[in-house]
Amino acid sequence: MKHNKAILITGGAGFIGSHVVRLFVNKYSDYHIYNLDALTYAGNLENLQDIESSPNYSFLKADITNQEEINGLFDKYRFDGVIHLAAESHVDRSISDPLAFVKTNVIGTMILLNAFKDLWHNNFEGKRFYHISTDEVYGTLGETGLFTETTPYDPNSPYSASKASSDHFVRAYGETYKIPFVISNCSNNYGENQFPEKLIPLFINNIINNKPLPVYGDGNYTRDWLYVQDHAKAIDLVFHNGANKETYNIGGFNEWKNIDLVKLLCQEMDIKLNMPKGESERLISFVKDRPGHDLRYAIDASKINKELGWEPSVTFEQGLVKTINWYLNNKKWLESVTSGAYQSYYEKQYT
Ligand code: NAD
Ligand code: DAU
Repeated sequence: MKHNKAILITGGAGFIGSHVVRLFVNKYSDYHIYNLDALTYAGNLENLQDIESSPNYSFLKADITNQEEINGLFDKYRFDGVIHLAAESHVDRSISDPLAFVKTNVIGTMILLNAFKDLWHNNFEGKRFYHISTDEVYGTLGETGLFTETTPYDPNSPYSASKASSDHFVRAYGETYKIPFVISNCSNNYGENQFPEKLIPLFINNIINNKPLPVYGDGNYTRDWLYVQDHAKAIDLVFHNGANKETYNIGGFNEWKNIDLVKLLCQEMDIKLNMPKGESERLISFVKDRPGHDLRYAIDASKINKELGWEPSVTFEQGLVKTINWYLNNKKWLESVTSGAYQSYYEKQYT
């Protein structure tokens, strides 16, 4: 079958990217989906085993910080659309190695923008650069209020500063070189295939292994959680129907204090593992806080809801149970990603 469009998805071997790649490969048989990923510690092609032999899918192992390599791929495949997810994504790692975040998130994004600009020059008809960003660019909320698309940027961690910077460059390339672009800023995702450095999969893995659950500070930090497949559906809508130069906030309408979320997770794990009630909760251990820890994130997702008709399809309780089931049914995946380098990361971060 002839493919009408060549779509580049960067970071497609990672957590969110793998769900986006799967959705696009299965839904759009007239597109050819190119998944470009450097396969860092966070990238894993096992995440995509079910679609790897699809005729409209190709994997390109490449590094977005290498301009020459990226230009070569743009020349060869002539991508009509880019959905850019590749990034260093973990706040704690950005605190110990901030420069790596500038390199991948800022310079890597610019290299993609340059390649896109140089490929299409001023002939951008039917083209689109979609940049996936985070609610963390807005900084922190107090006890009340929500982040809207017009909330001023106020990032507090090296991770969020690097994402904010990349958002600014995308917008600047749109104004200066007329690149058609769209940006979305999403809240905390959870679900299948998330690397166990992030709160939910880390704690599931630790409960399975009867290890302490390291809650930072007093645990009274709030995040707005969204099931990853609902984020992937929002990305599909924004890519196809979002207005040029617009930003869309994406969130779960689902705020949880960390400590309450951890207690709910513990209750569900007790049930799934046939353990006495309260067994997992006994593993909770309050540890030294994350420096610069943002108190609260919460998204006002009414724009994407009203303009594009998007809303989350599952409740948090449903999504959490799906997620726990997936990790319990995929212990080999968990074991393989937590061997080797993960052990030294964990030691350094938590002891
Ligand atoms: P992830 O860490 O799971 O995956 C990142 C992917 O990018 C990996 O496959 C990795 O190999 C790849 N990558 C890293 N550096 C690269 C490079 N130099 N060249 C090519 N590929 C490279 O991240 P995620 O959680 O799936 O996040 C994806 C995107 O969504 C990021 O841009 C992140 O900022 C954004 N985001 C994440 C969340 C969340 O809760 N996880 C929420 C909002 C926005
Ligand atoms: O808001 C969107 C962002 O959500 C994304 O842009 C990031 O890529 C993603 O990593 C996530 O950032 P957070 O820092 O909010 O996620 P994390 O899972 O690291 O932490 C969630 C909360 O749990 C946060 O308040 C810190 C706390 N925490 C985290 C870890 C890893 C703990 O208390 N203990 C832990 O061990």
